[in-house]
Amino acid sequence: MAIRMIRTMGDPILTKKCKEVKEMTPRLRELIEDMFETMYEANGVGLAAPQVGILKRIVVIDTTGEDPIVMINPRILETSGTQTGGEGCLSVPGKTGTVTRPNYVKAVAFDENMQEYEIEGTELLARAICHETDHLEGQLYVDKVEGPLMDTDDYYADMEEE
Ligand code: NI
Repeated sequence: MAIRMIRTMGDPILTKKCKEVKEMTPRLRELIEDMFETMYEANGVGLAAPQVGILKRIVVIDTTGEDPIVMINPRILETSGTQTGGEGCLSVPGKTGTVTRPNYVKAVAFDENMQEYEIEGTELLARAICHETDHLEGQLYVDKVEGPLMDTDDYYADMEEE
């Protein structure tokens, strides 16, 4: 396994649409392992393949540190409710902005063995699924931020004052 370089905002690869995965290969298995390692090392809760320079529809998520989820070719089937809160991205280091997302998401994806499965998530998991699937379309959360994009420290300091 290896840590991969995380591409940051301004890198054109982050604005490109990713391609469907047709079959699992040893190279893609290694990519998925590396994506987890890279995400954990950066203290993230999600990472999409384009963030490490690979234009494929692969996402890893772990919102608790104990629930690694691989989503290949994910599709959101259903959403409901809303949540408004702070969101960040490993490709936009040190920044946080307020984004409104669905509070519930149901999605379908393939796992690392290309077995199709459905997943439901609320709150942070719902937010992560939306954020990461946006990456596969070449979209960054900064385009959805309500109000200013702030330094993360200032963002949470301001919330404490309110
Ligand atoms: Ni991100």
